[in-house]
Amino acid sequence: MELVLERESAVEQDTTEAANYFASLIQPGDLILLNGNLGSGKTFFVKAVCGNYGINNVSSPSFAIVNEYNGTKKIYHFDFYRIKKISELYDIGFEDYLNDSDAITFVEWADLWSEIFPAKYYKINFEFVSGEKRIIRITKQ
Ligand SMILES: Nc1ncnc2c1ncn2[C@@H]1O[C@H](COP(=O)(O)OP(=O)(O)OP(=O)(O)O)[C@@H](O)[C@H]1O
Ligand SMILES: [Mg+2]
Repeated sequence: MELVLERESAVEQDTTEAANYFASLIQPGDLILLNGNLGSGKTFFVKAVCGNYGINNVSSPSFAIVNEYNGTKKIYHFDFYRIKKISELYDIGFEDYLNDSDAITFVEWADLWSEIFPAKYYKINFEFVSGEKRIIRITKQ
C-alpha cells in the first residue's frame, strides 16, 4: 500500500485542491473507492475531480446506484449506500462497468461491499476530526 496524499480539509477549497491534484494522477481503467461518514465530502470530491474533465452534471447516485458522465474522460459513479444484497450489484452488471478500461470508476460507500473489488484500486477516506474539519487520506494498492 502506497500513501498518495494526506491532508486536512477545513473548507471546500481544500477538498477541491486535493481533487484537482488527484484528477491529474488517475487514468482510464482506474477504480477509486471512497469511504467516510454521511456528508464527509465523497460526492463533493467526485464533483471536483470531474470538473477537471469538463463534466458539470455530477450528482449523488444513491437512488440510481450508478451515474455515467462523459467529458474529456468517461466516468462511472456508483454509490453502494442503498445496496442490500450483493446480487443487486451483479444484476446491474457491476463487473462489466469495472471491465471497461476506457472509464474511471468511483464508488462511494465502497467498504459496504468490499468483497466485489479487484486487487488494484485507490482508496480515499474522509474522516471528520473536529467540527467541519476533515482529513482526506488517499492510498493506492
Ligand atoms: N471541507 C469540505 N470538504 C468537502 N465538503 C464540505 C467541506 N466543508 C463543507 N462541505 C459540505 O459538506 C457537504 C458534503 O456532502 P457530500 O454529498 O459530498 O457528502 P458525501 O460524503 O457524499 O455524503 P453521503 O454519504 O450522503 O453520500 C457538501 O454540502 C459540502 O458543501
Ligand atoms: Mg455522496
